[in-house]
Amino acid sequence: MGQILLMSMATAQNTSSPPLTLPLSQDDSFNFQLLAVLAVAPYSGADVGPVLATAQQIEPGNFSSFSEAFYTLANTTKAEAEDPQNAYDPINVRDTWFSAATYFRAADFFLHGDWTDPLINLLWEEQTAAFDQALASLPVPGVRVRIPADNFTVEAIWYSSTAEGGAHRPTLILGNGYDGSQEDLYHTIVVPALARGWNCLTYEGPGQPSVRRSQNLGFIHDWERVVTPTIDYLLSEHADDVDDARLVLFGFSFGGYLAARAAAFDSRLAALILDGGVYDTYAAYSAALSPELLDLYLSNNQTAFDSAAESLRTDPSLPSSIRWGLEQGLWSFNTESAFEFLQRTSLFTLEGVTDRIQIPTWIANAEAEAFFPGQSAQVAEALGDRATLHNFTGAAAYHCQVGAFQELSRTMFAWLNQTLS
Ligand SMILES: *[C@@H]1O[C@H](CO)[C@@H](O)[C@H](O)[C@H]1NC(C)=O
Ligand SMILES: *[C@@H]1O[C@H](CO)[C@@H](O)[C@H](O)[C@H]1NC(C)=O
Ligand SMILES: *[C@@H]1O[C@H](CO)[C@@H](O)[C@H](O)[C@H]1NC(C)=O
Ligand SMILES: *[C@@H]1O[C@H](CO)[C@@H](O)[C@H](O)[C@H]1NC(C)=O
Ligand SMILES: *[C@@H]1O[C@H](CO)[C@@H](O)[C@H](O)[C@H]1NC(C)=O
Ligand SMILES: *[C@@H]1O[C@H](CO)[C@@H](O)[C@H](O)[C@H]1NC(C)=O
Repeated sequence: MGQILLMSMATAQNTSSPPLTLPLSQDDSFNFQLLAVLAVAPYSGADVGPVLATAQQIEPGNFSSFSEAFYTLANTTKAEAEDPQNAYDPINVRDTWFSAATYFRAADFFLHGDWTDPLINLLWEEQTAAFDQALASLPVPGVRVRIPADNFTVEAIWYSSTAEGGAHRPTLILGNGYDGSQEDLYHTIVVPALARGWNCLTYEGPGQPSVRRSQNLGFIHDWERVVTPTIDYLLSEHADDVDDARLVLFGFSFGGYLAARAAAFDSRLAALILDGGVYDTYAAYSAALSPELLDLYLSNNQTAFDSAAESLRTDPSLPSSIRWGLEQGLWSFNTESAFEFLQRTSLFTLEGVTDRIQIPTWIANAEAEAFFPGQSAQVAEALGDRATLHNFTGAAAYHCQVGAFQELSRTMFAWLNQTLS
């Protein structure tokens, strides 16, 4: 989950000033990412002490140091998972492999600036293998599925809330955003959803971790091309498990745009959840450019803009959030040109499509939202009485309620309970 491109210093600092929680690093971006790792501890995704001890090893501003510290923790945790003395017990297996998988993902997080770095694929293979060990030892094992779409394949995981067939349960379709994985979603939403009797399907499309790597595809704006085949799959392969009148789409972070766009073009959903709302991606990113850089972009000189962005990226005084945001943007949109990246973001808008969203929509509005400030309210306004805007304040005010996932699921499921009953 994320931090977004080319934020001005002011925006970048808004992630932690005033600090909502005890800082885990002097580096704002590392602080937020460390909190995101700690935040999955309540739902079996990490262990608190080892993460805090790892945080202590990390040098602010040094991306390799963040990666290496988590790679070390991931290796140690993997060795514990493989120890035959622990492996007799499915609960040991599950908790330890889930944590190892989280730490491998954390080791990957800041590495996307150099596309030739072999760790980008190697760490992902490690996280996937570790996660799969854990999935297989769940009481109702999660199952990886590959869903054919028009000219790519959606990577998904199906979690049934019960081993009994024919239960016709309400079902959540869950997608992440600019950087998060479907494995992260297990520890934020799937665990509390299964406990409440919901089935879940998590998925990734172009631009997202598995599809970006294995199919070499960057983000596409017409996200219904991802979600419509996913709904087709659920309603045909899981017709007995899924209550087709209670199918809900959830989008996290930049996935708030993606899910809303898909919901505008598929009429089979009963409700939509946006955490948070993203109305206009270009507006958010371009507002974060310095006036000089924006002028350069608007002058339409691609060579000049790209070289300015490259000097920015390699400037050692650049805050980590901005460097990471740019590097992640280029990688996930699969372009080496910052100009082309920014140009493409203008396709990622809800302008002209919100009237097509006719279902009840719950929108999480984080008071300390640093990446799409003001846009949750903008989406709510465009949807009018179809929207319910929930304001998260205090320690739950971070982007995506990072650090307060119990509060997130409590409020979100209370709304679903009222809305779909
Ligand atoms: C950052 O936060 C301050 C204080 O809450 C606010 O006035 C300012 O507009 C925010 N900056 C951005 C770019 O969101
Ligand atoms: C960054 O951290 C790595 C790994 O810990 C270390 O080898 C490297 O020297 C550090 N770089 C700088 C510029 O301090
Ligand atoms: C983790 O283990 C792998 C071997 O499985 C090794 O190649 C790598 O160097 C280790 N990384 C760290 C940071 O210990
Ligand atoms: C995939 O399909 C879309 C539209 O359906 C098209 O715009 C795009 O060029 C296609 N991509 C490839 C690689 O065929
Ligand atoms: C674009 O900017 C470069 C400087 O980076 C300059 O040399 C070139 O003439 C400019 N191109 C146009 C068409 O203005
Ligand atoms: C929630 O926040 C928005 C601004 O972000 C504000 O307009 C609205 O009144 C707030 N709603 C409540 C119930 O506080």
